[in-house]
Amino acid sequence: ETSRIAQPIGTALDRFIKNHQDQFAFASGELSQLLRDIALASKVVNREVNKAGLIDIMGAAGSTNNTGDQQQKLDVLANIRFTRALMKGGEVCALVSEESESYVDLNNEGKYVIAIDPLDGSSNIDVNVSIGTIFSIYRRKSIAGMPIQEEDILQKGSDQVAAGYILYGSSTMLVYTTGHGVNGFTYEPSLGEYFLSHPDMQMPADGKIYSINEGSANSFEKPVKDYIQHCKDNNYTARYIGSLVADFHRNLLKGGIYIYPATAKDPQGKLRLMYECNALAFIAEQAGGKASSGKARILDLEPRHLHERTPFYVGSKNMVTKAESF
Ligand code: AHG
Ligand code: MN
Ligand code: MN
Ligand code: MN
Repeated sequence: ETSRIAQPIGTALDRFIKNHQDQFAFASGELSQLLRDIALASKVVNREVNKAGLIDIMGAAGSTNNTGDQQQKLDVLANIRFTRALMKGGEVCALVSEESESYVDLNNEGKYVIAIDPLDGSSNIDVNVSIGTIFSIYRRKSIAGMPIQEEDILQKGSDQVAAGYILYGSSTMLVYTTGHGVNGFTYEPSLGEYFLSHPDMQMPADGKIYSINEGSANSFEKPVKDYIQHCKDNNYTARYIGSLVADFHRNLLKGGIYIYPATAKDPQGKLRLMYECNALAFIAEQAGGKASSGKARILDLEPRHLHERTPFYVGSKNMVTKAESF
């Protein structure tokens, strides 16, 4: 398989993308450019995240998004940054975002559709805890130049051609897959570049970390309660940051399971299929992990609308399988 050519640690993202161009669907260079656009926008967001306390971009924006979340100033700002970068880039015809009620038309000649959570972990912005960005990339089904169709937008996760996330953490990282394994890059701020730091990431098949907001446990269904009891009976470690990207990233490296189940407040779970779950499910599977709604494979779910939610179980393969068995 040509897909896993070893690349030395320290390879710059641009060079890595160039060296792997043959893996990209339709190898025309457009998907490569799209990934570069995302990387560039993430550097701008990273800069703003890093000095958020100094430039009056903390706190609420005073508005609510389509899924009922209070928008933070950085939610709005990150949405603008990514939208603008993708609009200028020209490869994307339509953008689905947590912060936009319906999809946004970009360049109708573009061949790709993107779904994005511009800023994940909003509640952690003001307290200087890790936050992220999540993205899914699809090839459009209709012919470029034609009007966008519903089938272009509502694609299932298994149709993703690439997906990734940026973690604005103790260091900033970009982790992505094009369906040939998962690679992680660390941002070097003084050089303004991402460099390969985590080649061919593999999620341990087993783990001892469970991540769930147990505050809502009274309204969990019995199987979820039983699985949590199983974790406790086995002396697992509880870790919950409250930023999906950061919780997922930790479990990807160390082994673990992340669960956002149905609750009384959110009967379908809180997380959104199109711009949160699908990308992480694709990355998990590419790293040897697993992602489930508790009943079905996440990547097989057919989205019915942009902001659809699903219960989400993601992480080490054997842990997710075990949780499903309950
Ligand atoms: P977002 O900030 O993009 O709206 O996502 C918030 C999500 C996710 O990041 C996190 O894991 C989850 O909400 C936390 O929810 P609870 O506070 O209900 O645990
Ligand atoms: Mn939100
Ligand atoms: Mn989110
Ligand atoms: Mn968000």
